[in-house]
Amino acid sequence: MQVIATIDAFRQARAAFGPLGFVPTMGYLHAGHLSLVERARQAHGATAVSIFVNPTQFGPHEDFARYPRDMERDLRLLEGAGVDLVFAPAVGELYPEGFGTYILIPSADQVLEGAARPDHFSGVATVVCKLLNIVQPTRAYFGQKDAQQTVVVRQMVRDLNLPTTIVVAPTVREADGLAMSSRNTYLTPAQRTAAPVLYRGLLAAQARYAAGERDGEALRQTIREVLAREPLVRPEYVSVADPLTLRELVDLDHGALLSLAVRLGTVRLIDNLVLGPVDPKGSGNF
Ligand code: PAJ
Repeated sequence: MQVIATIDAFRQARAAFGPLGFVPTMGYLHAGHLSLVERARQAHGATAVSIFVNPTQFGPHEDFARYPRDMERDLRLLEGAGVDLVFAPAVGELYPEGFGTYILIPSADQVLEGAARPDHFSGVATVVCKLLNIVQPTRAYFGQKDAQQTVVVRQMVRDLNLPTTIVVAPTVREADGLAMSSRNTYLTPAQRTAAPVLYRGLLAAQARYAAGERDGEALRQTIREVLAREPLVRPEYVSVADPLTLRELVDLDHGALLSLAVRLGTVRLIDNLVLGPVDPKGSGNF
């Protein structure tokens, strides 16, 4: 496994491979990340992973400085997973003096994570575009855990004609249902005990959908009621939206993306679940 910090050296090393699967990450890897690596490896053999905590996708009061980092452990895990190339640049390598081009996706900034985190998806789209240009992968793998991110990345790839296929893989969860996240390490023991309520809320809405409920607001209310049973959890939004456009739904005639964001103390957690069929030609290969 080659670990490379500069764009020039990475391009040189990449040239020795043909088709390549790529998993962009911010490190502090867990089984969710590794499930993407495994998919990439099975599809391609040759696999690249990037580790880069991207400052442009964090708001001024967010956790960029304290985002968890453990490069040594990450590299051990990636070596064990059979990765060929790791791209781990310093901030100045991707954003040198004078950097000034950003991708804007205004539709994403109106709703859900975009509405809660101004500039977040501009930062994500910009860094993913840069990474795809540097790594030149055949396919790039993203987690359903960050549902809106997958919609944004697909839109960017489509709009800018990037020659990479985007693959979305299911959310990996802890035994009690909590979606794996590098940010789970911020939780106190009491908050960690409360956190599976996100998934329980989603499952309760899924059960009502399975029983025939098609009213969007009724499903939102079901999730809110489950969340309200955990006093440590402060809901930020609860959404039942079209999986492709992310617009809130009144009636669910073609399935839906259930998603939510909550705060547990200062920690912000998100989760989601897809109900019903999704147009395979659309942006939501969930
Ligand atoms: P990061 O949060 O490190 O996640 C890297 C990839 O792992 C993303 O595609 C994310 O959706 C996926 N992932 C995270 N938790 C998962 C889980 N429990 N199950 C399955 N997949 C999971 O997302 C980012 O980094 C950044 O925004 C990035 C795309 C790297 C751009 O900076």
